[in-house]
Amino acid sequence: MEMVFSSIIIRPLLLGHFMNNFSDANQTAEIISDMSFLYELSLSIGRSLDLVDNCEKFLKILMPRKNYSYGAIWIKDKYLSNLSETENTTLIYAKPRYYIRDTEMPLSHPLFTEVAGRDYATINSRDRKFSSFINEHNIKEGTFVILPLGQLGFLKIYTANKDYIYDDRTARKMRSVLDKFAISLEGCLSHENLIAEIRQRRQTETELKKAREELETRVQERTCELVALNQDLLAEVIERKKTESSLRQLQAQYQALVENNPDIIMRFDKELRCLYANPAIEFVTGKLAEDVIGKCIWDMDFGIEKDKTLQKHLMSVIESGEQLRFESEQAHSHGVRYYQTHFVPEFANNRAVVSVLGISRDVTEHKLFEKEIARLDRLGVVGQMAASIGHEVRNPMTTVRGYLQLYQRRLTSVKDRETFSIMVEEIDRANAIITEFLSLARNKAVDLKKNNLNEIIKVILPLIQADALHRGNSINVELGKIFDLRLDEKEIRQCILNLVRNALEAMSDGGVVTIKTYIENEDVVLSISDEGKGIDSRTFDRLGTPFFTTKENGTGLGLAVCYSIVARHKAKIDVETGSSGTIFYVRFADENRE
Ligand SMILES: Nc1ncnc2c1ncn2[C@@H]1O[C@H](COP(=O)(O)OP(=O)(O)O)[C@@H](O)[C@H]1O
Ligand SMILES: [Mg+2]
Repeated sequence: MEMVFSSIIIRPLLLGHFMNNFSDANQTAEIISDMSFLYELSLSIGRSLDLVDNCEKFLKILMPRKNYSYGAIWIKDKYLSNLSETENTTLIYAKPRYYIRDTEMPLSHPLFTEVAGRDYATINSRDRKFSSFINEHNIKEGTFVILPLGQLGFLKIYTANKDYIYDDRTARKMRSVLDKFAISLEGCLSHENLIAEIRQRRQTETELKKAREELETRVQERTCELVALNQDLLAEVIERKKTESSLRQLQAQYQALVENNPDIIMRFDKELRCLYANPAIEFVTGKLAEDVIGKCIWDMDFGIEKDKTLQKHLMSVIESGEQLRFESEQAHSHGVRYYQTHFVPEFANNRAVVSVLGISRDVTEHKLFEKEIARLDRLGVVGQMAASIGHEVRNPMTTVRGYLQLYQRRLTSVKDRETFSIMVEEIDRANAIITEFLSLARNKAVDLKKNNLNEIIKVILPLIQADALHRGNSINVELGKIFDLRLDEKEIRQCILNLVRNALEAMSDGGVVTIKTYIENEDVVLSISDEGKGIDSRTFDRLGTPFFTTKENGTGLGLAVCYSIVARHKAKIDVETGSSGTIFYVRFADENRE
């Protein structure tokens, strides 16, 4: 501003000097008019910080005074905040507006190259290049003047006058005003830029704030979600842990159930390979479960299966896919044992058998019990018969015997007398059998008194020994220290005699029968062992059945009577037999103790 004023103040002084030298009135008037024009133009500059307003005020003074019909201000894009990236020049103001055709042109356009490095460029319609300078509507001829606005851009002015001259003198006069105009435009631009920048920054800040707030709410939401999720997860973990532990417990329970089961539990695959065996297998086969698992059934070599039934049944279950139950017996060092086996096929999804579960139960005790029951049953039936018909037969027989003896005495012939004697003997024998038979009667009264088994044995020993001697055998007696029992002496005597008689009858010459008494598990035990050939299994099963005998002259009542007597004493008979002899044990339970 200061510069503008200084040039304006200095100029009148210079003018005064000129006026003295050139008295041409016209010239003086022109100079004064120029001065006031420049002064006015200077005043129009920088009155507004608004770019368009600034341009308008400037052109409003410039154009009418110089008779310009069109004026336009072009600014290089790099000075425009919103276009700083491009290489063009943009029209930012034109007066009047309806002339405007182009609003953007490259810097390489003749309009701008023409004035590069110069104070001004003029071109009129007589020049051929004129058309390339036109970028407005409605212009065909006249003169264009292009003036640089510092580094900022260009001022393009137009007058319809083809002969308009913008010479160096005019240019010189206009130069400082245009420079100042350029500076003030620069100010407007930087103001605009600043405002744009502030606006931009505000907007950015607002956006940033919004984004931050959004972020915060999202973080909060996400945190809430995460907390909830975490709680769910925690609950799930706790739940899962609980389930796991109860599952583990359950598994342990099942495992204990299987491992401690006295039944043998095995699982076989289709190739008859053992997948699992529980510890119970050891008792039956003597083999450890771990030695059996993984082996094929053919390689297990239990040494107890003679007919390979197990393999046969297993294969049939795999082929048929149906359950199977069967019983088998196996000889052990401690006697025959009976097993009941259940094979259950296990299927894959396609219903094909993949494995077989086998459960084998030792039913030996059950089997023996069943036999005992059957025997007692048979005894019971016979006992009833004995009770009902025994007396009916014996009474008439006693009458017959009496008459026989009566007639015998009257007979004179020795031969007849002998015949009658044989008849009486036969009746006596029949009577003896009936007496024995009658002792089977179930409801026979027993006369239990305090007795010592050893004493009973001692009393009948001479009789037994005489019998043994007669057969060429001998008796060995080992009487242990035993407590007194409640016994029916006559019956026990009969029982011992029957057992010893059978023992003697089982042996050939020179055999020894051993009679022992001792205490075992708080029971008094009587054992009678012989050195005979033992009892085969078919006979063994029928021992004690009335009238079952393998002897030519046997009655088959001896053992039946023994079992019956022992049952009345609530005692028990056990038999052990083998090729080297047989042992009969009579065990008196503690309740017989006196
Ligand atoms: N100690 C034994 N040794 C071998 N077999 C025996 C023995 N005791 C009993 N028996 C068998 O039991 C069967 C039945 O015996 P028992 O009832 O006494 O009738 P009996 O002696 O009249 O044949 C005998 O025929 C015999 O086959
Ligand atoms: Mg007998």
